[in-house]
Amino acid sequence: MSTLLLQALYLVAAALFILGMKQLSSPKGARRGNWTSAVGMLIALLATVVNLGLLRRFTFTGSVLALVGVAVGSIVGTVGARRVRMTAMPQMVALFNGVGGGAAALVAVYELSYILGTHPSPAESFPSVFSIVVGGISFAGSMIAFAKLQELMTGTPITYPGQQVVNGLVALAIVALAVYLIGFSNLALAFSALLVLALVLGVAFVLPIGGADMPVVISLLNAFTGLAVAASGFILDNFALIVAGTLVGASGTLLTLLMSQAMGRSIANVLFAAVGSPVAGPAGAAGAEGKSVRAGQADDIGTMLAYSRRVIIVPGYGLAVAQAQHVVRELADLLEKKGVAVDYAIHPVAGRMPGHMNVLLAEANVPYEQLKEMDEINDDFKSTDVVLVVGANDVVNPAARNSPGSPIYGMPILNVDDAHNVVFLKRSMRPGFAGIDNELLYDPKTIMLFGDAKESLTKLVAAVKAA
Ligand code: TAP
Repeated sequence: MSTLLLQALYLVAAALFILGMKQLSSPKGARRGNWTSAVGMLIALLATVVNLGLLRRFTFTGSVLALVGVAVGSIVGTVGARRVRMTAMPQMVALFNGVGGGAAALVAVYELSYILGTHPSPAESFPSVFSIVVGGISFAGSMIAFAKLQELMTGTPITYPGQQVVNGLVALAIVALAVYLIGFSNLALAFSALLVLALVLGVAFVLPIGGADMPVVISLLNAFTGLAVAASGFILDNFALIVAGTLVGASGTLLTLLMSQAMGRSIANVLFAAVGSPVAGPAGAAGAEGKSVRAGQADDIGTMLAYSRRVIIVPGYGLAVAQAQHVVRELADLLEKKGVAVDYAIHPVAGRMPGHMNVLLAEANVPYEQLKEMDEINDDFKSTDVVLVVGANDVVNPAARNSPGSPIYGMPILNVDDAHNVVFLKRSMRPGFAGIDNELLYDPKTIMLFGDAKESLTKLVAAVKAA
């Protein structure tokens, strides 16, 4: 294949990646965006394989190994993605992302085995050294993120005195070793030490971060993987890898910043403040003592809903746990038929991953027009008769506005407390992911409907029908 044709095919693939990402930015185009990017990837893959074949770069063993790799990867990827529960999606992303980072590091290790002992220029060895460090950190960090989210280890931050100093020293050692390798010598021993240190830093960097912040960390590690892959592109002289890796690096970085922003926290606070450690004192669950709550019955709440003018549904993590997306839509449809105006208020970090609620509700074919973003709907709560909070907690907790000592202080929240009535559908008085008490549960205008969200919603459907 001529170089010009190969580069042209890579350019088409790059354009499709960018177009796909653009389409992914709205729920309407997201499905198409996935396909567009996938077609881009297929073109890049086929162009590379055909080109290498024409250049006779494939040995028999190499081809067999590559085919086995593709088969294993495709089977594991397809089965894993199809079977994964929506609530387990963040850990699956962590796992797949980590494997990507590890693969980039392995490519660099393999490539280095060729130039070891020779005297490569800094320009030749830099991409490999970079890929080993960043890919290694991404691999090890993602595995810890996976283990925390999958509850294979504790999700609370693991900290010890002087931890950030130790981590800083490991990072310094990596930089020193990398400079030595690029500038002076490329000893096999030094490369092995670099890889080991990168893996150690990946583990050490994620250990003190709480489970609640894992989606942000995974997004950051995703950006790392992108950069490691881009470096692999330089190593292998592959334009498509450079473009794809850079796009992942840039989008992962932006997503990380957007998520921290949506939580009202700086990225440094997410990475270094060990948020999620057990909270003592009034900010913790102990704050619940001595207060009373109003527990309601589905029949009464159903009647209240049926006679409302406007209802806003606030979905949260519990909706995903209960898999209640279809029945919540059934309830909303029923209310609309009775002339009630219904909208869904979507907080940007509701659930456990970006777009969690949008994906769930799209699965139940909730019309996109009914999904209102926080800024769009926050002023409407004042004129809302009933807000139905379905398995959400932190994203409606007024402590984010009123309690400067609270771990979620500063996080923009949905102004649910402005509404005339608030109904919480949850199983208990347990706090949400941030582990802090929610004053709104004790507010006189709040009614608790205790139970699994799906069961409670099913009862509400029956009650609204009967009203
Ligand atoms: P949470 O504050 O975690 O609250 C979820 C609530 O759902 C819990 O109070 C729980 O109460 C209830 N629940 C669980 N299973 C249920 C079931 N089967 N039926 C009914 N209720 C159920 O969720 P949220 O309001 O969506 O907030 C998300 C949190 O995750 C925030 O703190 C956010 O900062 C954090 N976070 C999110 C992201 C992204 S990108 N989404 C990233 C990082 C961090 P019971 O146990 O009493 O039922």
